[in-house]
Amino acid sequence: MTKDCITIILAPLQGVTDLTFRNVFSDHFYGVNEAVAPFISTMAQMRLKPSRIKDVDPENNKKLFVIPQILGNDAKDFIFLADHLYEMGHKKINWNLGCPHSKIAKKKRGSGLLMYPDKIDAFLDIVLSKISNTLSIKLRLGRKSKDEIFKLLPVFDKYPLDEIILHPRTGIQMYDGTSDPDAFEKARSLSRHKFTYNGDIINLKTFHTIQKKIPGIQRFMLGRGLLSNPFLAEDIKGILIDKNINDRLRKFHDDLFSNYQTIFSGPAHLTGRMKGFWRYLGPSFKNSKKNIKKILKADSIAKYQDMVEAFFKDKPEFIK
Ligand SMILES: Cc1cc2nc3c(=O)[nH]c(=O)nc-3n(C[C@H](O)[C@H](O)[C@H](O)COP(=O)(O)O)c2cc1C
Repeated sequence: MTKDCITIILAPLQGVTDLTFRNVFSDHFYGVNEAVAPFISTMAQMRLKPSRIKDVDPENNKKLFVIPQILGNDAKDFIFLADHLYEMGHKKINWNLGCPHSKIAKKKRGSGLLMYPDKIDAFLDIVLSKISNTLSIKLRLGRKSKDEIFKLLPVFDKYPLDEIILHPRTGIQMYDGTSDPDAFEKARSLSRHKFTYNGDIINLKTFHTIQKKIPGIQRFMLGRGLLSNPFLAEDIKGILIDKNINDRLRKFHDDLFSNYQTIFSGPAHLTGRMKGFWRYLGPSFKNSKKNIKKILKADSIAKYQDMVEAFFKDKPEFIK
């Protein structure tokens, strides 16, 4: 299969892959075709959270095609939000059936709904007859057991879906253990829908392993792998650009920092967000634990900037 056939989708990571991140990332790195935005929760009584809507406004998202994601289980509230997104220009939306957090799952949202195929069936029956957008679903294999998906696939087969994005773990697994490409392949083989693979692609080696295990798979969603190695999509697609890795990462960092500076009013908010960035990227540098720790400990913007300066001055080796 040629590399041109491969589609790479930036995964939604709440609190990380927001509008600012997506735009700055697209200015600095290549190879990502589209993004699913972090979830927007449905709200009762026809309410909308302006900041969440702004995040997916097509006017602000011209650099990278974005698909909004909705988290919720109430058909009426879902339709209200889907309609609003449609009016904004979103022809495609995604339904979150994967969120593993127990607070959310307890309310039968995200992966908490996976144990209830009848509820999912009833929801899709109402929603898909009412909304004008097309729908894709992002899910895990199940909430408690990897077998739950086999009761869901016949339900999904009844409805038109853009695609199924499957992260082959269970909800209760959170991010522990490994994702299960064999279970992914089994589910894919039993469905009439198009599938996107998501989970633990952290470098070229893991990408090739998944490709071998799932012959013909063309669509990949990458999350933490792209955050720890922003060059990963370029590597997968064989895009050769500037070899000066640290220079590019520094420019990306500085751009992200200055963009967040215009958004976050408090210094703790700004450094907090940037520390999140370092938690993913930091471990990709060889022998850099001490310097990363200093960045993560910085208690003011000035200190943070000094520590970042010192970090790059050391010319740390980035391991892809
Ligand atoms: C901090 C964090 C926030 C996440 N937020 C979302 C979200 O808003 N919607 C969603 O569908 N998945 C969310 N995920 C799951 C990721 O999209 C993805 O499915 C998961 O990280 C596995 O892919 P990866 O191994 O490539 O990171 C989140 C994951 C993390 C670690």
